[in-house]
Amino acid sequence: NTLIELSKAMPKTELHLHIEGTFEPEQMFAIAQRNNVELKYSTVEALKAAYQFTNLQDFLDLYYQGMSVLLHEVDFYDLTMAYLEKVHSENVVHVEIFFDPQGHLSRGVAFDVQIKGIHNALQDAEKKWGMTSKLIMSFLRHLSEESAFETLELAKPYLAWIDGVGLDSSEVGHPPEKFLRVFESSKSLGLKVTAHAGEEGPPDYVWQAIDQVGVERIDHGNRALEDDKLIQTIKQRNLTLTVCPLSNLKLCVVNDMKDHPIKQMLALGLHATVNSDDPAYFGGYMNDNYTSLIRNTNISKEELFQLAKNGITGSWMAEDTKAMHL
Ligand code: HPA
Ligand code: ZN
Repeated sequence: NTLIELSKAMPKTELHLHIEGTFEPEQMFAIAQRNNVELKYSTVEALKAAYQFTNLQDFLDLYYQGMSVLLHEVDFYDLTMAYLEKVHSENVVHVEIFFDPQGHLSRGVAFDVQIKGIHNALQDAEKKWGMTSKLIMSFLRHLSEESAFETLELAKPYLAWIDGVGLDSSEVGHPPEKFLRVFESSKSLGLKVTAHAGEEGPPDYVWQAIDQVGVERIDHGNRALEDDKLIQTIKQRNLTLTVCPLSNLKLCVVNDMKDHPIKQMLALGLHATVNSDDPAYFGGYMNDNYTSLIRNTNISKEELFQLAKNGITGSWMAEDTKAMHL
């Protein structure tokens, strides 16, 4: 299939990727063993068999369990480097990755341990391959505003390594407005702002993200399509949607890849991009996401190019760097 070959060869960016969601079972078992941590599943096969989700929370329960074997700086380095090597081989030239500090702080893993491991891997990828990156610290929305503020405080010595803040974890019941003040403080520190919105949550959460929080991007955004005025507003403000096709399928945000709305988003003039979210859990990395769209929808070459181009323009690269990639 020439479109598949083309999508693999295109230079791509990844704008929605949780580094803890790149934890492959084999690597998880290896790190668990070296750290003397017991996993709830006794084999790689048993763990993989549990990757059957009916919603976001099913996945999150396993995701937090999986990350619990990460203890030392080298663990964060190895995890990040394995992901970067993988996507380098898929012609991904720029990544903007989330990490979830609170998912590690709660287990006694210090902020500096986490960020040093991740940062050093990002630096090494740039030295080795010229792959550029941004790092986004994500607040866990099921936790309190106070906990988010404590996390922001811990981040202050590392602001030179952090480009923005995000909002992830259990969406329904935890609207963006819960974190308005944390986002305001983040912005005043010079951080960019994005948030998961409209994955499971209603269009109102997307409105809150754009009008109250003032996000520069919307992570997922699928449910924005239920509200015509919202669609027009996202379009007028030229906000990028970081769409995650295989994630949407695995978490039952869409029932069939044939029904995935990404083509509809493009047709509406929305700035959609393709991303893998948590590739180790959702059945594929960047190229698998494109391949699945090609196999299951009648997506055209022009649409594929548009998606890849949107990934450049919607990134947080400097404008002159974007121009170099276009
Ligand atoms: N949604 C919300 N929280 C997450 C996700 C997601 O897709 N991945 C990791 N944390
Ligand atoms: Zn996500």
